[in-house]
Amino acid sequence: MAGVQDIFNGMAKEYDDLSDLWYSWLFSRLHYFIANKIIYREPLKKVLDIGCGTGFQSYLYSAAGYNVIGIDIANELLEVAKEKETGFNPDRVELFPEYFDYVAQYNQKIRNILKKKIGKIDYFPPKFYFGDAQNISYNDKKFDHINCCGSTLSFVPNHKKAISEMARVLKPGGTFLIEVEHKWNFNFLWYILDPIVRGKLQLNKSVRQGLKFLTKKFTRNIWINFPFGEYNKPINMNLKLFSAYSLKRDLMKYGLKVEKKYSIHALTNLIPCTFLDNLKPSKKLIFLFKILAQLEEKFPFYLPGSSLVLYGKKLK
Ligand SMILES: C[S@@+](CC[C@H](N)C(=O)[O-])C[C@H]1O[C@@H](n2cnc3c(N)ncnc32)[C@H](O)[C@@H]1O
Repeated sequence: MAGVQDIFNGMAKEYDDLSDLWYSWLFSRLHYFIANKIIYREPLKKVLDIGCGTGFQSYLYSAAGYNVIGIDIANELLEVAKEKETGFNPDRVELFPEYFDYVAQYNQKIRNILKKKIGKIDYFPPKFYFGDAQNISYNDKKFDHINCCGSTLSFVPNHKKAISEMARVLKPGGTFLIEVEHKWNFNFLWYILDPIVRGKLQLNKSVRQGLKFLTKKFTRNIWINFPFGEYNKPINMNLKLFSAYSLKRDLMKYGLKVEKKYSIHALTNLIPCTFLDNLKPSKKLIFLFKILAQLEEKFPFYLPGSSLVLYGKKLK
């Protein structure tokens, strides 16, 4: 776990500066889901943001009047989160810089949703503390909603322990939103292809890693070694890719029933993620990405994407 902590601490300064297509799309879509599917529909609540990082989602919930506590094991990300309080304007939410027009459009959509709530409510800035998802230091049934996004569960060594902790601190009838790395999406093709094209996709030079997708049971989660960050100087981290079936079953064991499933980077992942996680994307790449992104937005039904987003309730 120290590895994960150190790597995220090392990203603290650049974490919020999303000038690549991959993460700016991921977080624009995710934040819009939160505003549209949760904030817009649910009354004011106590929220626990597990693996809050620099507080993207914590600030979003609190802009709508929710009472938010964020916990994380990376102290330096928590410091960035706390510092944001000074410049944060709940009436003009902009969670990260608008390098692409779709980020500005999603920010505007989110602001329109929040406007319907703000005016009636008080704003409480989120509070941030050091805390491990596998051993949460709060009493049972304290929170009305749990947010655990940005793939936090994919970095946690024992995700079942983290799920049992989520279930313990969530009130019966309370809701949760979990976003993790998904096993079944176009990336799995790129993993298998990369050793054949001699690592040109910069994803996976090892045949063994590619074969994991094919040799492990279809419904089993797998650990992979993933190159985060810039194409030319990646930071390799272990990452758990979840099968939706397994994760839903693990959640259900603790009384957390999934009601809705969404995905992000379904069609956009027709371009390997390593090309999209580039701080200076070419005009051609941006053009192609936007076509796929617009199609993904319009797709009326669930397509498996590289991010799996699960929303549900704790049974009473
Ligand atoms: C990709 S970041 C996501 C941060 C934030 N939720 C977001 O969406 O921007 C993953 C976060 O999980 C945190 N994390 C990893 N393992 C954790 C654990 N065992 N307990 C709490 N946080 C953890 C990392 O420190 C990091 O901040």
